[in-house]
Amino acid sequence: MNVSGKIIVITGVASGIGAEVSKQFKAAGAHVIGMDRNEPSESVDQFIKIDLSNPASIEAAVNSVPEDIDGLCNVAGLPPTAPAEIVMAVNFLGLQALTEALVPKMNQGGSIVNVASLAGVGWPAATEQINTFLSDASLDNVGGICEQLDIVGPRGYFFSKEVLICWTMKNRWTWRDRGIRMNCVSPGPVETPILADFIATLGERAEEDMRIMDRPGRPTDIAPVVQFLCSDESAWVRGANIPCDGGMYAHVQCQMNNLA
Ligand code: NAI
Repeated sequence: MNVSGKIIVITGVASGIGAEVSKQFKAAGAHVIGMDRNEPSESVDQFIKIDLSNPASIEAAVNSVPEDIDGLCNVAGLPPTAPAEIVMAVNFLGLQALTEALVPKMNQGGSIVNVASLAGVGWPAATEQINTFLSDASLDNVGGICEQLDIVGPRGYFFSKEVLICWTMKNRWTWRDRGIRMNCVSPGPVETPILADFIATLGERAEEDMRIMDRPGRPTDIAPVVQFLCSDESAWVRGANIPCDGGMYAHVQCQMNNLA
């Protein structure tokens, strides 16, 4: 897969998966424009500070991006220990606002990659709430919509990833006339600073999952999948959600559907 010379915007570059995605794109010869609320320690070609919960900050960041980007990797996110409405703002509404504002600056054949999660696996049971959220929510009214839909506590994280997977599928052909496509990668538990937050939220279930998985994922397991989805070789992959989780998605499906 070849991403050399591509201009790629990556959010969440200051830590964990985003930092590794940035590093691997740089190593492959891409030009990286990193975004985060914190300064990255790894080198990027351009850094733009952004707060994805703040519409004015998103608008200012978009204004600093050049007109000819080839890829957008939406990696930044908050864990389930943060308040639900903030998680919905950062993990979905800010991501959505940034994406929609950057599409006009994207070249023909561009690629958008969203880092969702195994935590979004339950989306088929929540489509009514998801449709309501997608039609009514914005960064300005997110608190009220979360209250209306009873999205509180750790549920905010799971719901943010369910909404993200569904929004990605719904937009399978939105920008097809320009060859622009959007996909998700869904990691299982990955060794980054927020892994402790997942363990705190899920308790014994997380420990048990980790035993079943053999080992937790590493950012180096996730970054190549993100890069593949930004390469021209994956042009026929559209609206997909690719699990990258040591087999956990398959395990959950087998358990839920009575497969051996
Ligand atoms: P991390 O905490 O290491 O990195 C997240 C980055 O997002 C940080 O650099 C942080 O500054 C940035 N960020 C947070 N709020 C922001 C805001 N308001 N505006 C701009 N940037 C902001 O976490 P990690 O693990 O690298 O997570 C990356 C993505 O992977 C997230 O979307 C997360 O939900 C997802 N994920 C992580 C898993 C894990 O076990 N670590 C499992 C499945 C998905």
